[in-house]
Amino acid sequence: MSSFRKWRVTRLVLCWIKAFHWTRHYMRQSGAFVRGYNQTASRAWILREAHTVEKGLSLPAVRHFFGRAKIDHLRSEMAASAGTPGNAPAIAVGQSVLGSYVAWHAREGVSDPLTQEVADSLAGRTDVDPDLGGTIAPRPAVGANEQAIYDRLVSTRRSVRNFSPEPVDPALIDEAIALANLSPSVCNRQPWAVAVVQEPDMVRRMLNLQAGNKGFDQTIGTLLVVLADTTAFVEEYELFEPFVDAGIFSGALVNALNVRNIGSCCLNLCVSHKMARKVIRGLGVEERFFPVMMIACGHAAEDCVVPISKRLDVQTFRF
Ligand SMILES: Cc1cc2nc3c(=O)[nH]c(=O)nc-3n(C[C@H](O)[C@H](O)[C@H](O)COP(=O)(O)O)c2cc1C
Repeated sequence: MSSFRKWRVTRLVLCWIKAFHWTRHYMRQSGAFVRGYNQTASRAWILREAHTVEKGLSLPAVRHFFGRAKIDHLRSEMAASAGTPGNAPAIAVGQSVLGSYVAWHAREGVSDPLTQEVADSLAGRTDVDPDLGGTIAPRPAVGANEQAIYDRLVSTRRSVRNFSPEPVDPALIDEAIALANLSPSVCNRQPWAVAVVQEPDMVRRMLNLQAGNKGFDQTIGTLLVVLADTTAFVEEYELFEPFVDAGIFSGALVNALNVRNIGSCCLNLCVSHKMARKVIRGLGVEERFFPVMMIACGHAAEDCVVPISKRLDVQTFRF
């Protein structure tokens, strides 16, 4: 056997091992395989079903009494989570969506037993915030000036690999995270979390688990670890969704940092399953979180230069 073939076989085996470990982790930690009540899986179901209903209200031709099964499931998950304080925000969204569903049918002048039952359950309640769920008008078109600013900020962002010792204000990190939190996600499940690491020993420990920071590691004072919450994925076919959603979130986060004049460099976590577990255990977070990438952050050093990182034309297929 040629060494080339050996190399390919080795890679194939490593691929299978990685796929096996990831699938096993997913099966153990994803919401698709939980038995009994699980807080985060229930939260994901509430957000998912509530979103399906509000999505239904936003379609061009809304059908009377649509989504009965979704509403039943939403209500049963809300009831199951009622005693879980951590799920109160999701329940508030669910109640608001149900309120919007009832209000829409009332405006249409129609009712059925389920709509009436939901209406009765909400009647007289003063704690249902109508702004948390339902539909709103899309924002007005942006002007050319706003567009130009956005284009300039996004097109001039580059990965920074030489940070100054000036510490990053944690409040700015929080602002950037809050903005990235508005990223789209499958059925609005928002399955991401971020570990903000600024304690120097912890930053070093985390960087030692990542292979792409050599040469600038000593300048990194703030490290974000983007995590995907695998319990938010409640179907077996959602295997890859943690990476999709947390990836979209990460892109938005990098841009949100950029507009706050915080330089950043994404750091891949294409690591073995063992290494990923070390990241999770090192952070002390639950195993349901899977580390998707790290993001080194800081203010660019005075003598900082960045690679041009020329983009080639995107391959586009038009039909
Ligand atoms: C998921 C991901 C992982 C990355 N990992 C590393 C890394 O380990 N080390 C590094 O120096 N840069 C890393 N980068 C940065 C890329 O090299 C960089 O984004 C790319 O070359 C484009 O350059 P720009 O960010 O300056 O526009 C990573 C980027 C992404 C999106």
